[in-house]
Amino acid sequence: KTYKVGYLVGSLATASINRLLSKALVNLVPPQLQMIEIPFRDLPIYSYDYDADFPAVAREFKKSLAEVDAVLFITPEYNRSIPGGLKNAIDWASRPYGQNSFTHKPSAVIGTSPGSIGTAVGQQHLRGLLSFCNSPQMNSPEAYIQFKPGLITEDGRVTDESTEAFLKKYMEEFHQFITRVCSVLPPNA
Ligand code: FNR
Repeated sequence: KTYKVGYLVGSLATASINRLLSKALVNLVPPQLQMIEIPFRDLPIYSYDYDADFPAVAREFKKSLAEVDAVLFITPEYNRSIPGGLKNAIDWASRPYGQNSFTHKPSAVIGTSPGSIGTAVGQQHLRGLLSFCNSPQMNSPEAYIQFKPGLITEDGRVTDESTEAFLKKYMEEFHQFITRVCSVLPPNA
């Protein structure tokens, strides 16, 4: 059985190191996972005024989430949390009330930073949000990737063997986690 994994890259920057990480992960996934990027940059800032009538861009965003079996967040840490754009996307996904896109949807978080903490604090914030949104989360392995220049090439090749092996293992573990969750929780249960 194959699973669709929607991934959200938390950074909108053109030179994003987390975008590079996403490319590396897409290259390293086991064949049972189909990776589909879910963009969010064009979403307006959420307010519940939109709940009665979501704009097309938000309906499309929620449809993309509904069509995948699991979600992977690849995000930088900004000011010891997640970037505002990603938080905004999560707010959209969680609403209107009763139509939370993350309910029972397995997720995992990963990120890279030049700093040695490797997005750990931002990831903890994200885990709190996903808990509230009732997404079953892969607890382990955790992945705090310290980025060094050249670690990942523009086409998503990892130049350090042990990091490459770790990222491959991480995606294999995520595949197993998705399989376990989906075996007890049918999609959209
Ligand atoms: C940062 N950076 C950063 N790094 C970190 O490890 N912890 C942090 O809290 C922050 N805070 C922060 C805030 C803002 C507004 C910016 C722009 C940057 C540095 C950050 O890790 C670095 O810019 C990375 O390149 C960000 O990842 P992307 O956007 O390149 O994927």
